[in-house]
Amino acid sequence: MKLKSTLLAAALLLGGNIYAQQHSEQDHSKYVAPTDPLVKEKLSKWQDVKFGLLMHWGTYSAWGIVESWSLCPEDEGWCERRGPHSHDWFEYKKAYEDIPKTFNPVKFNPERWAQAAKNAGMKYLVFTTKHHDGFAMFDSKYTDYKITNTPFKSNPKSNVTKEILAAFRNQGFMTGTYFSKPDWHTDTYWWPYFPPKDRNVSYDPKKRPEIWNKFKDFTYNQIEELMTDYGSVDILWLDGGWVRPFSTIDPNISWQKTIPYDQDIDMARIAKMARSHQPGLLVVDRTVTGEFENYVTPEQSIPDHYMSIPWESCMTMGDSWSYIPKENFKSAQKLVHTLVDIVAKGGNLLLNVAPGPDGEWHEEAYQRLEEMGKWMSINGVGIYETKPLAPYRAGKWAYTKKGSTTYAFYLAEAGEKLPATLKPEGLTLAANAKINLAGNKKALKLKAGTIEIPTKTATEIGQQPAYLFVIN
Ligand code: GLC
Repeated sequence: MKLKSTLLAAALLLGGNIYAQQHSEQDHSKYVAPTDPLVKEKLSKWQDVKFGLLMHWGTYSAWGIVESWSLCPEDEGWCERRGPHSHDWFEYKKAYEDIPKTFNPVKFNPERWAQAAKNAGMKYLVFTTKHHDGFAMFDSKYTDYKITNTPFKSNPKSNVTKEILAAFRNQGFMTGTYFSKPDWHTDTYWWPYFPPKDRNVSYDPKKRPEIWNKFKDFTYNQIEELMTDYGSVDILWLDGGWVRPFSTIDPNISWQKTIPYDQDIDMARIAKMARSHQPGLLVVDRTVTGEFENYVTPEQSIPDHYMSIPWESCMTMGDSWSYIPKENFKSAQKLVHTLVDIVAKGGNLLLNVAPGPDGEWHEEAYQRLEEMGKWMSINGVGIYETKPLAPYRAGKWAYTKKGSTTYAFYLAEAGEKLPATLKPEGLTLAANAKINLAGNKKALKLKAGTIEIPTKTATEIGQQPAYLFVIN
């Protein structure tokens, strides 16, 4: 048995690092700003914190494969099945849904994650409480397909969503629950009478309103559990944008054109309930546009330009959202540049780290966060609570401001030390501007718009992924 599952895991390894691109072409002119004062207040607080952690964790992590998607009967790269059961969809689904029988993340220690994320300068968390496969990483009473029904159930921390949210909250984080609207386990979504053809509901909700209504209630009830039993929650991050009313489909977006049925789950009812328990809650009904998408979420990409509406890029620290044994991590330099680029354009970065089957991160994830933290502890002053400043980005420069202070980031190339002179591109500096490098008191001289950096100062600053000039 053990051997069998090891072989299976090995056969599946090759599969994971492909993801579905679906959030790039949204029409942002349709953004609807919230009017509820508590939501507005939370949104502006969230916009100030800039940097958050996303974690994709589920039973798929045990096989080291893509999150959920291998269950989806679509002929797409990211849905590809691997391993001994892959030749038969029904057999595969059964084997996949048996993973909980052996799922046992005995090294689970959310305090260590929260500490590492805090040291990196992160200030909010979004955790996958339920992905498309329908496996609840919380103790839902509406399903048996859940973390508290695995060998891990005897662990006092088995309700992992509760433990994770509490650990991060204790470190001062805002917290968010990722929740997939589609649920490929429950038989009111993939109704077994028809085999599923793709990611969508397997029947027409208009023809079978009694089944669809059950699904709506199920969704509502599970979200209500998350909004009542898990302490204060700031963000309800809803994924699976194909579950949406027909009227919200944007015909210019290719993946939305293929949605076959109206899948209206009554977001107004869900949001009202959720906010009755969590006043001011940010609701992020991804890609749907309108009242229940308080901010937009470009995925694995950074907009080309500054965007005035609230937004967040979610990006992976490696290549995949979910754990794969051999992950290809981005450098700390790249991650710092990503954060600065996003903040300069008015957004937040939600950076994904994927816990493994035993409940641990790759060691590299801790290392990258530590390196980012070193940089943030000196340069975070130009990140947190700042506002974008035109020209936002110009060449190797990125700009933000706070009050009358201008922050000018110079995004150095790998290994590039501070040169003797630098001229911030696209920025006009007053002749009497007071300039220093973040973390260094030495006042720098300005000559004809060019900043002079004495060798001694450059040596003191050392080599950094990006250099921050503070200008008053
Ligand atoms: C992509 C993936 C999905 C993941 C999401 C995170 O849409 O397909 O599995 O949860 O990105 O943003």
